[in-house]
Amino acid sequence: MAQQTASVFRPDLMKGKVAFVTGGGSGICYGITKQLMAHGANAAIFGRRKAKVDSAAQELSKETGSKCIGISGDVRKIETLEAAVKQTIEEFGRIDFVIAGAAGNFLAPLDGLSSNAFRTVLEIDTLGTFNTFKSTIDELVKTKGSLIAISATLHYTGMPLQAHVSAAKAGVDALIRAVAVEYGPRGVRANCIAPGPIAGTEGMDRLMPKELVDKHTSMIPLQRYGSIDDIAWTALFLFSPAASYVTGTVSIVDGGDWHMSGAIGGAPYPDAFSGAGEAPASKL
Ligand code: COA
Repeated sequence: MAQQTASVFRPDLMKGKVAFVTGGGSGICYGITKQLMAHGANAAIFGRRKAKVDSAAQELSKETGSKCIGISGDVRKIETLEAAVKQTIEEFGRIDFVIAGAAGNFLAPLDGLSSNAFRTVLEIDTLGTFNTFKSTIDELVKTKGSLIAISATLHYTGMPLQAHVSAAKAGVDALIRAVAVEYGPRGVRANCIAPGPIAGTEGMDRLMPKELVDKHTSMIPLQRYGSIDDIAWTALFLFSPAASYVTGTVSIVDGGDWHMSGAIGGAPYPDAFSGAGEAPASKL
């Protein structure tokens, strides 16, 4: 299913750096934090449930040999983020990398989406990203650091059952472009990563019915789900000096998935396109 690859990065690439990560208690952001730490960084992870972030922080420290602290709070409440940033500075003295990754999601048709449900997801994803940026930016200016927001590809098409998340992530992309433009002159870079279907995440486990996984995989150009490390490698690149001229971008890490959304109207893929010398259209 998801292919695992070893790190291509220097083991001490992130030595001396400090990451502040919202949503780092599980899934993709846990995986990014793990690889940053495995390459030498220390980290603070921020999440809603204290027991969960504390045990994730312990696990990350044990797995990587770097130091991680867990801090609980809610990205919708900026004062909890400001307190977390203060605690991170007291512990580590600096913040070089910020990941705005906390997100909320559920499947709901517009018919079943209340005003409060829509607002809740916008507040977690879009306002939460703004609050994360706002509470860490002074530290990033000091270190000439870098911010990554976790976006999505849902809003590139009219994805059903995801109107709330699509609207929220479109806002995240727009915000990050503005951060890149306004803070570039102060030495801060800001980018998004848009993960596609990533195996082993709560999002995919909950949102993709098991009986559709094989069919879905066959429709992805790279013919597999991504791994959490696929996202982590992109984050390491974006935080590294190799990306020092990269800002205001969205890195789509999805095996080409979104390009296929509705593209061939249910025709078998990729078989319909593999006949030697035959025009693909004749097989549809
Ligand atoms: N369908 C429709 N509406 C839903 C819903 C669903 N599946 N799940 C929640 N809502 C609505 C609630 O009914 C409520 O609206 P209402 O007051 O009009 O009834 C509104 O959303 C807020 O829900 P609530 O549970 O009170 O908010 P919360 O702040 O405690 O949690 C989430 C919001 C998104 C975090 C929560 O739905 C959740 O736990 N999701 C799963 C975890 C998750 O999202 N992980 C991230 C994976 S990418």
